[in-house]
Amino acid sequence: MSEPRWDRLLLNATLATFVGDAACGLIEHGAIALHHGRVAWIGHMDALPAAPNELALTVESLDAALVTPGLIDCHTHLVFGSDRAQEFDLRLNGASYEEIARAGGGIVSTVNATRTASEEQLFAQSLPRAQALLADGVTTLEIKSGYGLELESERRMLRVARRLGRELGITVRTSFLGLHALPPEYQDKRADYVALVCDEMLPALVAEGLVDAVDAFCEGIGFTREETRRLFECAKQLGLPVKLHAEQLSDLDGAALVAEYGGLSADHLEYLSESGIKAMATAGTVAVLLPGAFYALRETKLPPIALLREHRVPIAIATDCNPGTSPLLSLRMAAGMACTLFRLTHEEALRGVTVNAARALGCHDRGTLAVGQRADLVVWKAKRPAELCYWIGGSLVREVCVGGESVTS
Ligand code: NIG
Ligand code: FE
Repeated sequence: MSEPRWDRLLLNATLATFVGDAACGLIEHGAIALHHGRVAWIGHMDALPAAPNELALTVESLDAALVTPGLIDCHTHLVFGSDRAQEFDLRLNGASYEEIARAGGGIVSTVNATRTASEEQLFAQSLPRAQALLADGVTTLEIKSGYGLELESERRMLRVARRLGRELGITVRTSFLGLHALPPEYQDKRADYVALVCDEMLPALVAEGLVDAVDAFCEGIGFTREETRRLFECAKQLGLPVKLHAEQLSDLDGAALVAEYGGLSADHLEYLSESGIKAMATAGTVAVLLPGAFYALRETKLPPIALLREHRVPIAIATDCNPGTSPLLSLRMAAGMACTLFRLTHEEALRGVTVNAARALGCHDRGTLAVGQRADLVVWKAKRPAELCYWIGGSLVREVCVGGESVTS
């Protein structure tokens, strides 16, 4: 008998591979082999080249359990100080998100809480949120800065984001969101703040290896198209990919702007126009939909799903985990909300938290189950993909593997 070739072989799995252009790329009665942190073989059990015990050191039968790629949350603001439960009450009593923001609450109140938190405190507060996402199947996580709005606090946020990745053993991709809100001390000096972000903060944080991508909030209560363009020019000089909070509360044509820069994604998009969609389709920019924010803000304007489909713009779904508009700690729940609130099919929603979310982060080595991909995967207490969107709450995770290593058992 020859030496086993693989570290681990899972048999009798229902594999949702997300390979191919549509649906879940399902393989029933499937087998998947993991070796050195990668997928080494995948296919129908009957097609295995030898008896399982000759092939792998560890062999396990899954009794038809569903296996998906590790979920990818491509838009979060998970690192922040304190919470905004008080605003939740204000909104329930009729105040709008914009009114609260203009009255000095909103993002700026989280900025105050984040600025006064030490790195250790910020880490301790953020860790349970990242753990909750991981416990529900997330193995790759994007985290934005944007609650510091001055160099030292933005740096602290990004350092905490990196540390969360290291300590949990998952991938964290960081986005610098210096143009998230105008800090109170710059109220009458917009241009100075934009210059500070572009000319000082961004280059300094990039030099420290803390920035994987650049984001902005292009909105009436955020930053203009021109200010956003100035930032994108700097990102381009530094060779960094861009993405944008666009068309969340109004249409500033932000999606077309981020597409012009070959952006990874435009996010939110309730007020997106057809011309913005066409620009995204041409540039290959992913539409990241955030049903948690739609739900929490009791938004009624739906993102233009039919047009996104018609123009074949890839759709991703994320939690937008943040203290103001989306205190959501389950990506699976976000996928379910995308079905119920946005009328996505479960296949679309699940592609949105796997293959298309990987694309939105520019991470092409994950998001599908295929030979050579990272062995980031989830074994579910479920047999069919639809169940992941259908069950509301509860715990469906049986095992999470990151780079071939089990992180749950
Ligand atoms: O994605 N829209 C801007 N940023 C966040 C909200 C941040 C906050 O309210 O704290 C969002 O919804
Ligand atoms: Fe956001």
